[in-house]
Amino acid sequence: MNEPAVAAPRTVSHDLPVSPELAAFMADGWAASPLPGDIRLPVADVTAVRRERLSALFPGERLIVPAGELKVRSNDCDHRFRPHSAYAWLTGLTGEEQAGHVLVLEPDGPHRHEPVLYVRPRSPRDGAEFYRDRRYGEFWVGPRPDLGEAERMTGIRCAHQDTYAQLPPGRDASRDPELATALSELRLIKDAWEVEQLQLAVDHTTAGFTDVVRALPRALAHPRGERWIEGVFALRARTEGNGTGYETIAASGAHACVLHWIRNDGRLDPSELLLLDAGVETDTLYTADITRTLPLSGRFSPVQRQVYELVLAAQEAGIAALKPGASFRDFHRAGMRVIAEGLAEWGVLRSAEGDLHRRYTLCSSGHMLGLDVHDCAQARANTYLDGVLEEGQVLTVEPGLYLQSDDETLPAALRGIGVRIEDDLVITADGARLMSGALPRTPDAIESWMGELMEG
Ligand code: GLY
Ligand code: MN
Ligand code: MN
Repeated sequence: MNEPAVAAPRTVSHDLPVSPELAAFMADGWAASPLPGDIRLPVADVTAVRRERLSALFPGERLIVPAGELKVRSNDCDHRFRPHSAYAWLTGLTGEEQAGHVLVLEPDGPHRHEPVLYVRPRSPRDGAEFYRDRRYGEFWVGPRPDLGEAERMTGIRCAHQDTYAQLPPGRDASRDPELATALSELRLIKDAWEVEQLQLAVDHTTAGFTDVVRALPRALAHPRGERWIEGVFALRARTEGNGTGYETIAASGAHACVLHWIRNDGRLDPSELLLLDAGVETDTLYTADITRTLPLSGRFSPVQRQVYELVLAAQEAGIAALKPGASFRDFHRAGMRVIAEGLAEWGVLRSAEGDLHRRYTLCSSGHMLGLDVHDCAQARANTYLDGVLEEGQVLTVEPGLYLQSDDETLPAALRGIGVRIEDDLVITADGARLMSGALPRTPDAIESWMGELMEG
């Protein structure tokens, strides 16, 4: 096999030229600098089992699962890179240095595959990449594992990325819907290690919500209080994990009626509610997805409490419907029944029958959760939306009422109130375990929790 050609380092026009003397000086005098510590990933044994499950679905076929490529933000600046969830799930590799890497499951006889990981190894110190290349150079973006280190981390045989181009084609998860669907469906049931990671994500998110409540006095005083909240949560997410698992929704007052309000540029009004929908993503890339709707004064007004209690009752009904064998749609139906009846009782709807309540609820009330906030999104309807729940699935239950400020079907007092309550649950042998129960949910519990934090 030919040696891979040495590519010119990626530089920009304002980089200073390098003299031959400097180039020669840079090439020498470096001690060996292996990655420190025990580098085998704790998840390496579990990923082998996952790859075998995938292998069994595609006997004799070459399977290609790319980590994905860096995306330019502007000029020589890239967006922060996060590897594709399927790649992370199969390799355990989650770092920014995974950009451009590819996992290949090479058919090895009719019934098994040999995994090979094509990686860009650490740049050798006798070239210029390590100190000149803005995109991949060790002195620009940090060290990368060499081939041996990547093998020890993952337990997967590793090859230089440059040799990947010589491979015959195969099924590529970034283009092949059948492979993408299989990868989504294999991830529907979480293994014990994944449930642990998700609990960690939930626990850090709980801490982030607590930080936000503590910071409310400062946020209320700032002209863009929603941004202040976003920033406070981001601090927790970035210090405890990889970051947030999706853009934080910090929506005060009528902004809460916009499902994915991520502009977060509003001022906070103490007479209004704050809808905070946020999740910490762990270093292993599992995310929580939690929403609390909180009175910014620390106390619900009677009408806010009325709306909140209806959504809470819907959520309780949804949670009670979770168990193995129940259809995925059951918890949504149970929650929406409560909402429709409540709206009819308030006189907003003439009847609880039909689907007119959807004017005020807008979206479905839950989804799978895992490496992605909207996890397993390429699973077929018969395994997800029209499927049945199974032990080990993790999902959200998140009913809401979004009472738009310009909705003339509503009494004036209800207009401009948005409430969502969202929790994360794992399906157990006989029901579901609330993973996010450490955050208060009832109005009384919220008021006393906020009272303690805002005074302290
Ligand atoms: N945070 C998006 C969602 O709740 O689905
Ligand atoms: Mn959600
Ligand atoms: Mn959410």
